Amino acid sequence: NRVAMAFLAVVLIYAVFAVTHNRLPNYELLSSQLIQTRRNKELRRDPFPAPFDADTPCTPTTNVFFVKTHKTGSTTLQSIVNRFGFIRNLSFAFRRQDPRGHVTFKDFSKASPREMFFPPIHDRITCTFRGYNISTVHIAYNRQIANSYMTEGTKYISLLREPVSQWLSAYQFFKLDKLTRDHSMETLLDKKNDYWRSNLYSRNLQSLDLGLRVNQFEDMALSNNDF
Ligand SMILES: *[C@@H]1O[C@H](CO)[C@@H](O)[C@H](O)[C@H]1NC(C)=O
Ligand SMILES: *[C@@H]1O[C@H](CO)[C@@H](O)[C@H](O)[C@H]1NC(C)=O
Repeated sequence: NRVAMAFLAVVLIYAVFAVTHNRLPNYELLSSQLIQTRRNKELRRDPFPAPFDADTPCTPTTNVFFVKTHKTGSTTLQSIVNRFGFIRNLSFAFRRQDPRGHVTFKDFSKASPREMFFPPIHDRITCTFRGYNISTVHIAYNRQIANSYMTEGTKYISLLREPVSQWLSAYQFFKLDKLTRDHSMETLLDKKNDYWRSNLYSRNLQSLDLGLRVNQFEDMALSNNDF
């Protein structure tokens, strides 16, 4: 009983204090402190290490478009590229409307860089929405569109995974067993044409990540060639 009374008293005192002093957290200050702490932590780790072979001249590529694929370990590589860009104050293409900055397959065909992204950090005034240095979010690969907003000479990289393990990973992660009434993988595989349109993840999504359109997925000739 005494413990409960003491607890209530503390809560009451805090509540009175919070109301009288209007102590709400200052989120802007907190986030700038967080960024500073993060930056200092990164700097302590030697952010610009010497190249592996110090005798070979090596210049880092600072304009990188990482074509992020699904269920391939891409978030790990994304974090590495993000740290690389963050510590060098590089400008990221990042979707305004999504907390993780991703652009879905549907939104991509409709929106322009101006509608999708935050402006580049080096160009907040004229706001051309061009000249980004880094892209690591999910966005379907389209070289022409990407070239229109990335810095000239940007290097493109991606990560691919052997399709069977990629699919098994997607099956588990996106809970694809829920697509079929009997929750069986066999049913899903037998009737994949019926299911995959309701859930794009039920097929090997790496082709869509790399730029194949949804309506081109059944076109085997196209899928087997460069698209
Ligand atoms: C990045 O920006 C911060 C803050 O403006 C600055 O202190 C720092 O020196 C910059 N770092 C690099 C590598 O340009
Ligand atoms: C980042 O992009 C800007 C604008 O295209 C470019 O001027 C700058 O050289 C790039 N930064 C690096 C470090 O490559």
